[in-house]
Amino acid sequence: MTSTPQFTLSGAPVPPLVLGTMHFGTRTPVEQAHDLLDRAADLGVTFLDTANNYAFWHPGGTGDESETCLGAWFSTRSTRDRVILATKVGARPGYPGGDLSSALGLSGRAIKAQVEDSLHRLRTDHVDVIYAHVDDHSVDLEETVEALQDLIDRGLANAIACSNTTASRLAEALTAAGDGPGYAAVQNRFTYLTPLAGADLAPHVLLDDGVIEVARSSGVLAVAHSVLLEGAYTRPDRPLHPGYGDRTRQSTALAALDEVAAECGLDAGQAVLAWMTQRPSAVLPVVGISNAGQLEAAWQAVHTVLPPEALAALDDARR
Ligand SMILES: NC(=O)c1ccc[n+]([C@@H]2O[C@H](COP(=O)([O-])OP(=O)(O)OC[C@H]3O[C@@H](n4cnc5c(N)ncnc54)[C@H](OP(=O)(O)O)[C@@H]3O)[C@@H](O)[C@H]2O)c1
Repeated sequence: MTSTPQFTLSGAPVPPLVLGTMHFGTRTPVEQAHDLLDRAADLGVTFLDTANNYAFWHPGGTGDESETCLGAWFSTRSTRDRVILATKVGARPGYPGGDLSSALGLSGRAIKAQVEDSLHRLRTDHVDVIYAHVDDHSVDLEETVEALQDLIDRGLANAIACSNTTASRLAEALTAAGDGPGYAAVQNRFTYLTPLAGADLAPHVLLDDGVIEVARSSGVLAVAHSVLLEGAYTRPDRPLHPGYGDRTRQSTALAALDEVAAECGLDAGQAVLAWMTQRPSAVLPVVGISNAGQLEAAWQAVHTVLPPEALAALDDARR
């Protein structure tokens, strides 16, 4: 059975799947990335996620690559108007070869300069969503929120958002927004498996129940990254991120997932996507892909209806 889950951003409907482009222009060569973007646009996967630091950690990478790859696609295919474009600022190293400890951060000045550079690389005059990439405690939240709101006032962004933010900081930021536009989305780490208590996921922050509740009660779209655990649900050669323990530790949850997947004609990674988009507190997944088959599998998954008893069994098994 198929149907389309409903997600909205600032009141407007968005597709039930976001295409992550973190490796486009580095691990995924530009031409291959452009073909994948073409296929995504044809399917309706028109919500694209990038950042101004993808993928600086790749050998020879600078952090320009993903945005530059998208900019070239927009300009050669005239596709900018067909997509919802989200980028992120704040977590770009301050100098070539630097790491996150030198990140440019989220001061008013840093945001303004980083967005100008992003728009240049993206070859567009505005983005649809601008995220604060990683919470920056060295700057007053009011300053960050005001600088992001200023981008909306200047027509450089349609909506502001945050990533890797706790529930209390999200609530604080919503208050700081005052009468102006507040964060329309929060993008944190979230998948079917629950991390071990006290797991170190830094610089990522979990989309825990607290964040989901603040988002739900404030009309903020809850978005998840790192959903497929880099393919570990279906590929035995891919270890789980250490924060989740090993497969033995997660055996109950993984067995439930395999059972539901088999019943519904999906693989385990697809079952995660179907569960995430159809659970009562639905979450919009951002997925990474490197070939058309992976893209099509993800799109099929978010359109496959899980019976209520399967959703309940999955929820029970992950507790
Ligand atoms: N806000 C943040 O801080 C943050 C952090 C991380 C990521 N993100 C966003 O989230 C996106 C996704 O992140 P991600 O790539 O780390 O995580 P992911 O979605 O968990 O993993 C993606 C990888 O899983 C594998 N995969 C995908 N479909 C598959 C399938 N059907 N069967 C088997 N393997 C499959 C692919 O690996 P291969 O390519 O090796 O085949 C793919 O590159 C990024 O592009 C980025 O936009 C945001």
